[in-house]
Amino acid sequence: MAKVQKIKGFVDLFPEEASKFTFMETSAREVFSRYGFGELRTPVLEKTELFQKSIGEDTDVVGKEMFTFPDRKNRLLTMRPEATAGVVRAFIDSKTHQPGKISKFFTFGPMFRYERPQKGRQRQFYQLDAEIFGAPEAQADAELILMLMTFLNGIGLNKLTVELNSLGCHECRPTYKQALVDYYKAKDKDSFCEDCQRRMETNPLRVLDCKVPTCKELVADAPNITDHLCEECETHFMDVKTILDGAGIEYVLNPRLVRGLDYYVRTCFEVASFDIGSQTAVAGGGRYDGLVKNLGGPDCSATGFACGMERLAMLLDQLEAEQPDFYLAVVDNDAANAAMLFAQELRDKGLKGEVSFSGGSMKSRMRAANKTGAKVCLIMGGDELANKTITVKDMVGDREQETLDRALYLASL
Ligand code: HAM
Repeated sequence: MAKVQKIKGFVDLFPEEASKFTFMETSAREVFSRYGFGELRTPVLEKTELFQKSIGEDTDVVGKEMFTFPDRKNRLLTMRPEATAGVVRAFIDSKTHQPGKISKFFTFGPMFRYERPQKGRQRQFYQLDAEIFGAPEAQADAELILMLMTFLNGIGLNKLTVELNSLGCHECRPTYKQALVDYYKAKDKDSFCEDCQRRMETNPLRVLDCKVPTCKELVADAPNITDHLCEECETHFMDVKTILDGAGIEYVLNPRLVRGLDYYVRTCFEVASFDIGSQTAVAGGGRYDGLVKNLGGPDCSATGFACGMERLAMLLDQLEAEQPDFYLAVVDNDAANAAMLFAQELRDKGLKGEVSFSGGSMKSRMRAANKTGAKVCLIMGGDELANKTITVKDMVGDREQETLDRALYLASL
C-alpha cells in the first residue's frame, strides 16, 4: 500500500529536536516573566479578514502565502501566518484595556505561510512572540529589544546582529513616501520587477524591501526614511538608541529595513545571524500603534516582536557542535581536588571543557577526552600535583604533549 505522504513544508519534531523547542520555551517563559509578561494562547485559525486588515493586502504574506479555505458554511478562514494579529484580536475581545493601562503578553506556537520551503523556511514554523499594549513610549520598544537579547544571550546565542530603523509615523511618512515616489519616477519604470511597478503605486516603501537584484540596485540611492522623520519620531528613535547604547546592546542602523508587514510605525528591528544560510532573520518586530484601533479596538499603542524557533534551533545545533577547549584528565585520585580547582580557573578564563572528577587509567581518560572532541587534553597525575605542573596534549594537530608550569600555562591563555 502506498504510504501517506506528509505535507510539503511541514515537519515532524522528534525528541532530540523537540527538546530544543522545550528548552527555548522554558528559557523564554523565565526571561519574559521577569519583564512582567503573561502567557496568552490564541487559536491557530482566524477569520481571513483579520490578516487582510492587519498585515496588509499588498504584502507577500497576505497576497501569496496564506493557507486560506472556506469552512463548511463557506466562511473564509486562515491558518495564522503570524501571532500578532490574533493577539490583538484577543486583546480587543478581552475588553480589558483602560487608558494608561499597560498589558504585556507572550505566546508560542505554530504559524503557517505558503512559502517555498528551504533551509530555515517552512510552511509550518514556530514563533515565540511578545507584545506590549498601552505603552507609546520609546522605552517600551527598548525594553522589548533588551528582553529579546537577554533571552537570546541566555540560551547561548551571542553572535547576532541587531538591525534598527524608524519607519516614521502617520504625520511624517506621507512626505517620505512622496520623496520615494519622486525618486522612482526619475527612473525607468520598466526596469523594476512587475511586483515593484505595482508597489510603487500601492505601497512605495515595499519596493525598498524587494529581493530582486535589479530592484535592489535601483533603490540603492533612494532617500532614507530617517532623514524625513518628524521631531517626535526623531526623539522617539533617539531614546530607543540611547537606552540600547546604555545597556551595551550593539546595533546597526539600517534605513532600508521596512519589514514585510504593513502595520509598523516608528521603531522596527530585526535580529540576524549569518551562520544559518540565506534565511538570516531569527527575530523581527516593531511598533504598530494604529492597529488596535484599525481592528475595532480602543486607541491603544502597541509594540512587539517574534522569533523564529526553527532558525534559533539551527543556531543551537552549531553551539552544541562547538569544540570544547579542554578535557582535564585526572590520572591519580590524589590530584582530583587540585584538578577541579584548576578547571575552575580555566572556566573563569572563558574556556569551555570538562574534568574527570576522579583518577583513572591513562587509556580510559584519553578515550573520554577523544569522545568530547576537546582541542587539548590536560593531564594531571601525581607528578603534576607535586610539581605544580600540567601536561598538555594536543588533540587536533601533531598530538605532541609537554609538561608546563601550571601558573605559567594559565597566564599564557
Ligand atoms: P516576521 O518577521 O514576519 O514578523 O516573523 C518573525 C520571525 O519568524 C522571522 O524573523 C523568522 O525567524 C520567523 N519566520 C518567518 N517566516 C518563517 C518561515 N516560513 N519559516 C521559518 N521561520 C519563519 C512577524 O511575524 C511579526 N508578527 C513580529 C511582530 C510581533 N511584530 C510586532 N509584534
